[in-house]
Amino acid sequence: MRVFVTGGAGFIGSHTLVQLLRTNADIMVFDNYSNSSPEALKRVKRLAQSDFSIVEGDMCDPRALASAMQGFKPDAVIHFAGLKAVGESAEKPLDYYRTNIGGSITLLDAMDKVGCKRIVFSSSATVYDPNKPFPFTEDTALCAASTYGRTKQFIEEIIRDWSAATPGSSAAILRYFNPVGAHASGDIGEDPVGIPNNLLPYISRVAHGSLQELQVFGNEYATADGTGARDYIHVEDLASAHIAALEHITSMTGCDTFNIGTGTATTVLEMLRAFEKVTGKPIPYRIVGARAGDVSTTVANVSKAERVLGWKAKYDIDAMCRSIWNWQTRNPRGYEPRG
Ligand code: UD1
Repeated sequence: MRVFVTGGAGFIGSHTLVQLLRTNADIMVFDNYSNSSPEALKRVKRLAQSDFSIVEGDMCDPRALASAMQGFKPDAVIHFAGLKAVGESAEKPLDYYRTNIGGSITLLDAMDKVGCKRIVFSSSATVYDPNKPFPFTEDTALCAASTYGRTKQFIEEIIRDWSAATPGSSAAILRYFNPVGAHASGDIGEDPVGIPNNLLPYISRVAHGSLQELQVFGNEYATADGTGARDYIHVEDLASAHIAALEHITSMTGCDTFNIGTGTATTVLEMLRAFEKVTGKPIPYRIVGARAGDVSTTVANVSKAERVLGWKAKYDIDAMCRSIWNWQTRNPRGYEPRG
């Protein structure tokens, strides 16, 4: 199968590529490296001992996208590319709408031009109305609480409308819960620019000594220990969900949506303890006020992915922490050249 992968150099894209290359797919990656590094793709090639084409280009450039696709003639697209920082999305809403929504429309247009009718789209659990009871099923009401989340919610609707208007098309929308972890090799992983916003990259830098202490955002939530609880999913499990989704869309038409999580919620302090146990490093922390916009708990009902995709997460919290630590210790400066 010929698969066009937007944002393939990113955290989830790179891990998915390694697994996709094992299926003998013919791949073209389209990425502008705005929040990623070409080094990730070099490492993917080395890990998979396999080659693929790379086009450096912007999702908002219709000519670049159309010409890459016309040369490649994909059977399917996996669409990862997009901006993803919740805080930044409040400051630069138009950038987020332009890149995420504009880029997705440009992509669907380019697909139409080459007759490509299959797409797997990276959505997020952040599209759900956080006030609805959990675990969230795919039918839980949507009401994203951030500009970033709204871009995902709107793109989902656009893909549904495109699919309804495109005979023979098939789309899988994957709603990721909290992706964490790294490849078992320690060669690829999450490489946030600057001080991380997300819990696990932050914890791992505290364990490593490059940040002093973790600030725990609130301890008065209705959870086991009062700290926020999330459904953390290992990026390797997330990658295999894309392979399962790709298989699924080759045997159906229409648009199907899936929660991709483990179905288990872990609190901030439980995660911190797991990280300490796995690394043997103490992680200093301080309880501070709740972060604006945070909710008590998000957790997935994953029965649809199990039933329809035949996919189920395999990795537990300890495995997530171990793989992050392996990545962190082997690449203290991420993909930057080591000096
Ligand atoms: C965040 C995004 C979400 C995105 C997801 C990707 C927000 C509001 N939401 O989700 O849209 O899809 O990342 O993984 O940014 N925490 C601390 N101290 C820290 C960092 C986090 O206590 O320094 C806590 C948070 O309060 C939360 C938990 O850790 O309870 C997880 O936080 P985080 O990793 O940022 O993910 P989310 O907020 O769930």
